Amino acid sequence: MTKKMIGNHQGKPFLKWVGGKSQLLNYIERKMPDLKGYTYIEPFVGGGAVLWHVLNTFPPKRIIINDLNPTLITAYKIVRDRTDDLIEEMKKIHETYASCKCLEEKKDYYLFSRERFNKTGLCELEKTALFIFLNKTSYNGLFRVNTKGAFNSPFGKYTNPLICDESTLRNDAKLLKDNNIQIVQGDFSRTSQYVDENTFVYLDPPYKPLSITARFTSYNTTGFDDEEHRRLKNFCDEINNRHGCFLLSNSDTMQCSPPDPFFDDLYSEYHIERVEAPRRINCKGDGRGKITEILVTNVDK
Ligand SMILES: C[S@@+](CC[C@H](N)C(=O)[O-])C[C@H]1O[C@@H](n2cnc3c(N)ncnc32)[C@H](O)[C@@H]1O
Repeated sequence: MTKKMIGNHQGKPFLKWVGGKSQLLNYIERKMPDLKGYTYIEPFVGGGAVLWHVLNTFPPKRIIINDLNPTLITAYKIVRDRTDDLIEEMKKIHETYASCKCLEEKKDYYLFSRERFNKTGLCELEKTALFIFLNKTSYNGLFRVNTKGAFNSPFGKYTNPLICDESTLRNDAKLLKDNNIQIVQGDFSRTSQYVDENTFVYLDPPYKPLSITARFTSYNTTGFDDEEHRRLKNFCDEINNRHGCFLLSNSDTMQCSPPDPFFDDLYSEYHIERVEAPRRINCKGDGRGKITEILVTNVDK
């Protein structure tokens, strides 16, 4: 694979995102074709760990990113289009947080900001600034919403978080602009219109939980159940039928007790590889052990 390093403008996630793929980048890269001349699509972009890696190393001809979360997608657009205004807004928030004398005061400010974030009618700039702030100060950067769609993640008790990461915001904005990235909000199926034989699609849907206690599907109010995973498999078939390439990551349900061959059965006609990955939300004891995840692809490398 030809690698093109882009000077000092290295992109990286401007948000902490549950399920972020930074730890799996090496395995994922090995499964990718040379993306030069390709259209790259990420229908579940989240914090975009793979997107930034692709942009830093071998930018494809065309890029489309998508996510169901409207606040997240608006944030990508605000980072790209209103970088200076956003940084100014983030600096003000940072100063207020830093001026709080103790953790209790910081928590009050967090709860006040959370309430404001959940109000309707905020302009997109303020909403994005509050979103990034809450992401940096909530527990593990969790984006959890209740049944009414209100953000309700608890305070993370961080004394000195990097709230305004100016260089990351500027580098990401430059990469989003320079590569003319198409930013789309909606269900993953909306991206099928861009798929042809010169397309590579990286799919990182919400994990299938390994146990009831490990259930974490609240990226949004709709959840992602087995029916959704089957619908996604049909989407992969569609990519394959159009001679496009796909790579999908998910939890390894064979690690459940008893083992559940859900993905092995669902994707039996494709290549499945198990890779070791440290993950925070899982079924093991303290929830922080090393477990395997699966990579499914139609690319024969
Ligand atoms: C595992 S995360 C992706 C993490 C990402 N790879 C990263 O590095 O941060 C799954 C993402 O899927 C999104 N999502 C959930 N249901 C979706 C759907 N039906 N269509 C598109 N995106 C969806 C969630 O909002 C979430 O951002």
